[in-house]
Amino acid sequence: MAKSRTAFVCQACGTSASKWSGKCESCGEWNSIVEEKPLAPGLVTPRKGPQSGRLIALERLDGPTDDVVRLTSGLGEIDRVAGGGFVPGSTLLVGGDPGIGKSTLLIQVAAALARQEHRVVYVSGEEAVAQIRLRAQRLGLTDAPVELAAETSIEDILATLAQGAPARLAVIDSIQTMWTQTMEAAPGTVGQVRASSQALIRYAKTTGTTMILVGHVTKDGQIAGPRVVEHMVDAVLYFEGDNGHRFRILRAVKNRFGATDEIGVFEMTGAGLREVPNPSELFLGERDRSAPGTAVFAGMEGTRPVLVEIQALVAPSTLGTPRRAVVGWDQARLSMVLAVLEARCGVRLSSHDVYLNVAGGLRIQEPAADIAAAAALVSALSGQVLPTGAVYFGEIGLSGAVRPVAQAAARLKEAERLGFAEAVAPADSGGEKGSTVKLGALTHLTDLVARIASGGHDE
Ligand code: TYD
Ligand code: MG
Repeated sequence: MAKSRTAFVCQACGTSASKWSGKCESCGEWNSIVEEKPLAPGLVTPRKGPQSGRLIALERLDGPTDDVVRLTSGLGEIDRVAGGGFVPGSTLLVGGDPGIGKSTLLIQVAAALARQEHRVVYVSGEEAVAQIRLRAQRLGLTDAPVELAAETSIEDILATLAQGAPARLAVIDSIQTMWTQTMEAAPGTVGQVRASSQALIRYAKTTGTTMILVGHVTKDGQIAGPRVVEHMVDAVLYFEGDNGHRFRILRAVKNRFGATDEIGVFEMTGAGLREVPNPSELFLGERDRSAPGTAVFAGMEGTRPVLVEIQALVAPSTLGTPRRAVVGWDQARLSMVLAVLEARCGVRLSSHDVYLNVAGGLRIQEPAADIAAAAALVSALSGQVLPTGAVYFGEIGLSGAVRPVAQAAARLKEAERLGFAEAVAPADSGGEKGSTVKLGALTHLTDLVARIASGGHDE
């Protein structure tokens, strides 16, 4: 008798087991295991014996390459994050919290490409056609010849796409609402998401259509469903920001056809997402120059320098264990900076509550922000306002030594462009010839503390 191919798959981590249980052995999640079985075994024909394999022509590395002509939407921010336009036949996964603006962004991209007379198909499994039309009306996109459908069956979608000329772009909003008949499981389960993605990716590869899949994101910031989808697609882009801010950032976390850590910055307006070509100006726009506890960090996001304000607040704590709250930066990194300030520079913050915030809703991942965070903290504790014309960057080691960081020249250049006069940064950050930005060189964290104590100028 043929063995049953039923598998019990944990919806949280994707681990598959041979029997059901209440708790996943692998990730410890409760009630996450769902039975999944492929319906049509005939679809997968096992090859009989090694002799049935077809011979593959093996190639050399130095052969000819096809010059791919990338599909550019004209929305510069998204084209850049995709690596300079979309590669035909590639599949991109766009993740993000509900309501962050994924559908808005993608209908704008779809309309931009349709206006260039490319065939563009937009399939929504979440909204009715009328709803999508309403959004398009508000965005002023109704004239764009996008082909719309509200549909969730992968087989029907693929059959429809196969009609007529292949689409240049197909948007599937969202992959969690799609289902394929080859799987007997509810939409959104690991098996369904995986099988649906596989079918769409195969279609994209064979026709040269660029496929964009929208993916929901779970509470802890991962694309819900299997991580395997992230491995299957060519690029994973996260659309992030918080609902309290207008800024939205599209971030590439994986890209087979371009650099990762590239960001595109948008602003959510009443008429949809507007591109922000000069993010530094935007992040510094609402700066309060006269308050202690704020420092401008000269950061890098991918290949782009971005200046952003780091704000710190310290207050005597009434708690046994003082609070350490951080928004937009790494909690562990903050603890380290606090420990080094205390142990190496005698700056006592252990009886203070500490709050650190990156203005504008940006999330910083670089260790280069250490110096800016330390400057904001020392300024907040001492009440000494930092000079308004200074930017800060540099990594702090556990010994208190200030380490140089990558791309110092680009950071200095951006500071110069925005009219900053001084960069407080690691000693060997160079500084370009003819640059108007003076380097306030640091070798140890104590240099920074002394500089702030003396009013922010060279002792
Ligand atoms: P949406 O694209 O539906 O988000 P997602 O697909 O990621 O769930 O965006 C929904 C939010 O965006 C909604 O809260 C309203 C807001 N919005 C605007 O502020 N301006 C606009 O022009 C549009 C279309 C949406
Ligand atoms: Mg949506």
